[in-house]
Amino acid sequence: MSNLAQSIRHIWLDGEVVKGEQAQLHVLSHGLHYAQSVFEGIRVYGGRPFRLTEHHQRLIDSARLIGFNLPFAVDALDSAARDLIRREGVGTGYLRPVAWLGSETLSMLPTGAVPHVAIAVWDWPDVFGPQARSQGIGLAVSEWVRPGPASSPVQAKCAGNYALAVLSRHSAARQGADDALLLDAQGNVAESTGANLFAVRHGALVTPPTDYVLNGITRQAVFGIAQALGLRVQERVLSLRELFAAEEVFLCGTAYEIQPVRAIDSHTFKIGEVSRAVSEHYRDIVGA
Ligand SMILES: Cc1ncc(COP(=O)(O)O)c(C=O)c1O
Repeated sequence: MSNLAQSIRHIWLDGEVVKGEQAQLHVLSHGLHYAQSVFEGIRVYGGRPFRLTEHHQRLIDSARLIGFNLPFAVDALDSAARDLIRREGVGTGYLRPVAWLGSETLSMLPTGAVPHVAIAVWDWPDVFGPQARSQGIGLAVSEWVRPGPASSPVQAKCAGNYALAVLSRHSAARQGADDALLLDAQGNVAESTGANLFAVRHGALVTPPTDYVLNGITRQAVFGIAQALGLRVQERVLSLRELFAAEEVFLCGTAYEIQPVRAIDSHTFKIGEVSRAVSEHYRDIVGA
């Protein structure tokens, strides 16, 4: 079995490039114990990171939303990431910036805890394997509710928001599905563990509003693609019943790109023209 950490030669840590095995944190890090940690996922196409600045801005905003300030500005993070891509020689890959609070205190009030930032990059062509884009993936509806505005800072890409995502993936895997679909507290469609969802209904794209879902950078790109393709977009509550009646369903996210869905539980969908057109347009935009 491959080992991600062992495959990485260099990591950018707090302003310096260090050998992968030297990029360590203390076991008493606040971020590890209480999830005071935020991260990003950025795709690299032909050695060029896609929407790098937007992702680093979101990293900074996510940290602020959970109560700490990053000690680096967007420009510094952008150039660190570009340098790392060159050093590691990554062509088609994935960047993972992460920031967390250090080990100066384990008080719930982390006054004095120092924020740290690291960036890693590695080759990663696809999430679900080479066939998934043409054949689609299967989702299982999760028994876990996507944390909403009353229980989490929804627009923060913070570790705490991903605890239920991991539990949902375990449960989906036990059912033989590729990913999980999380619902909101009212039982309406929210998003998958790492991507936004669009359904095609009567030729229009329908996607849930952002109360319970991350307003993904790819989701926003799909709005632009829809406009270019002359497709109507409805950002509105989407019930599970209506989703099951959809003509097509696809997920979208930095890592997933445009990922058609072939089944949700026992309901099946065709991989149709709309998903294909959006996917092709997206690949043009990213330069894949
Ligand atoms: C829960 C969740 N929703 C949606 C997305 C899609 O966001 P983006 O398109 O910005 O990658 C992600 C990935 O970052 C995610 O983790």
